[in-house]
Amino acid sequence: MCGIVAYIGDQRPGPILFDTLKRLEYRGYDSAGVAVKSDGNIEVLKSAGRIADLEKIYQMRGSPGESMGIGHTRWATHGRPSDINAHPHTSGEIAIVHNGIIENYLELRDHLTEMGYQFSSETDSEVLAHLIHFYYKKDLLEATIKALEHVEGSYALAVLAASSPYLVCARKDSPLVLGQGKSAFYLASDVPALLPYTRDVIRMKDGEIARVYADRVEMLDAGGMPRAVEIERITWDADAAEKGGYTHFMLKEIHEQPRAIRETIAGRISEIDGEVRLDLGMSDEEIRGLERVSIIACGTSYHAGMLAKNLFARAAGLPVDVEVASEFINLQIRPRTLLLGITQSGETADTLLALKKAKTCGGRSLAITNVVGSTVTGLVDGTIYTRCGPEIGVAATKTFTSQLVAIILLAIKLGRAREHLTPDQARKMLIELTKLPGLVQRVLEKREEIRKIAESYAHAGCYFFIGRDYLYPISLEGALKMKEIAYIPSEGYAGGELKHGPLALITEKTPVVALATCGRKIQSNIKEVRARGADVVALATEGDPDIAKVASRIIELPGTRPIYSAVLCTVAVQLLAYYTANKLGLPIDKPRNLAKCVTVE
Ligand code: M6R
Repeated sequence: MCGIVAYIGDQRPGPILFDTLKRLEYRGYDSAGVAVKSDGNIEVLKSAGRIADLEKIYQMRGSPGESMGIGHTRWATHGRPSDINAHPHTSGEIAIVHNGIIENYLELRDHLTEMGYQFSSETDSEVLAHLIHFYYKKDLLEATIKALEHVEGSYALAVLAASSPYLVCARKDSPLVLGQGKSAFYLASDVPALLPYTRDVIRMKDGEIARVYADRVEMLDAGGMPRAVEIERITWDADAAEKGGYTHFMLKEIHEQPRAIRETIAGRISEIDGEVRLDLGMSDEEIRGLERVSIIACGTSYHAGMLAKNLFARAAGLPVDVEVASEFINLQIRPRTLLLGITQSGETADTLLALKKAKTCGGRSLAITNVVGSTVTGLVDGTIYTRCGPEIGVAATKTFTSQLVAIILLAIKLGRAREHLTPDQARKMLIELTKLPGLVQRVLEKREEIRKIAESYAHAGCYFFIGRDYLYPISLEGALKMKEIAYIPSEGYAGGELKHGPLALITEKTPVVALATCGRKIQSNIKEVRARGADVVALATEGDPDIAKVASRIIELPGTRPIYSAVLCTVAVQLLAYYTANKLGLPIDKPRNLAKCVTVE
């Protein structure tokens, strides 16, 4: 996955391109490049490594460029990270930047080679530069349209030609947004990158292509017909996408969770009536007719799906299967199945592909996502937005807890429509839900206590997280956070499963985090690992009379019903992983080998 940007206007393009690219670094950061129009030519600067380093070289060269340019930050898919594979790719006077995958690039490459084109990179994207060059006579838009007719795959694309007075951009299955400024247009893979420059954005839809001048945009829809440009005013400010005084975006986003949860709930519940209002694109009668729910997701979103499994069964009497999208086989999908895709970005390739496959079996479909207008929303009958604002840290935090809250709302909605929950039961759940942001705030106030514990185990060779029922998925989530940002091998395990194998790994050097706020059974698992010499950090309910007898260290969390304590435990394990990684001095917001949004299968 990669990020692309472009600029056309009355400013020098270089500083704007570098600034917007840095805001997209979360999409990938193994190499970067820019191409700017300079004295009637195209000047290209690109290299492996970070954008800030490239920017210094650009400045040393005297910051060339006037009126327009394109830029790219890369996360390698075809071809290793290197100077030569970095974008932009050029062909004669054409330069392009591309995010996506050209599936038939080998065939196109052979064809273009036969025609005399020479390839200098190992990327799939370079074929686009040569194809457009082949068709370019006078009209860059026409050349790009003709080139894309031969292309199979996905793209967000920006094209620059030395002799063209405008830029061209196009999208299919990869995100792309235009921003309208004063005598300027900006282009980026997502909205936050544009916010320092403009709040007036145009979201490109699949199959669209645009001719972009400094003062206007001519947009063609997927059928090649001109479409009126709709400008959307973004109301959240640029600060929402900045660190806001925290050392890392991840820490900022952890602290935003009370607000994020409030936003997820806002306007959707009536505690008095025990009702949840969600636009699911389904009547209550259709909900009553459902026979099962099939959930598809990846990574952290998959853990949210696992929690939904137990909750939907209890609250709505619905059997649920949850599958990792990359392993999806559509055995359970029948016309009376509700298909639910969970994806914070709405762009995860595995999830989109599995949803497309599953949809062919009929039935209603729904997405839980954080990104308005993301690709997943075009695939499903209804969308529940989590409304968290942009999440920049690669590790999902606020988007996960908001997914959990969206799942709770959905469970109550399904439960009421199917009369599996009484109005009184729903009312009580909703009243307690409104208190959740305040409880999360109280967990955040334990940050110093959690920091000290995290730092004391920061050099552990391996971590275990154990939980049961609703807390089992959270133990997986705790282990995932520890792996991805602190690089410590970590296992999340169902407490009862320890004795079936992994107990052999437990020694006095293995810290075990026991999620112990729901039920007493976990205490026997704590005893099992204590007997093997392990230290146990228990997340326990305030005032639990027994936990001190079994655990080595205790983090007390406010008492609430089990499903909500899953959210509280999540916040505690996020902080634990954060402070561990911080102690180890690791690049928390951009962990090695990872990207925020995985748009490749
Ligand atoms: O955007 P999605 O929710 O579809 O992303 C799925 C995973 O790639 C994502 O949750 C990943 O596991 C996170 N980095 C975890 O923190």
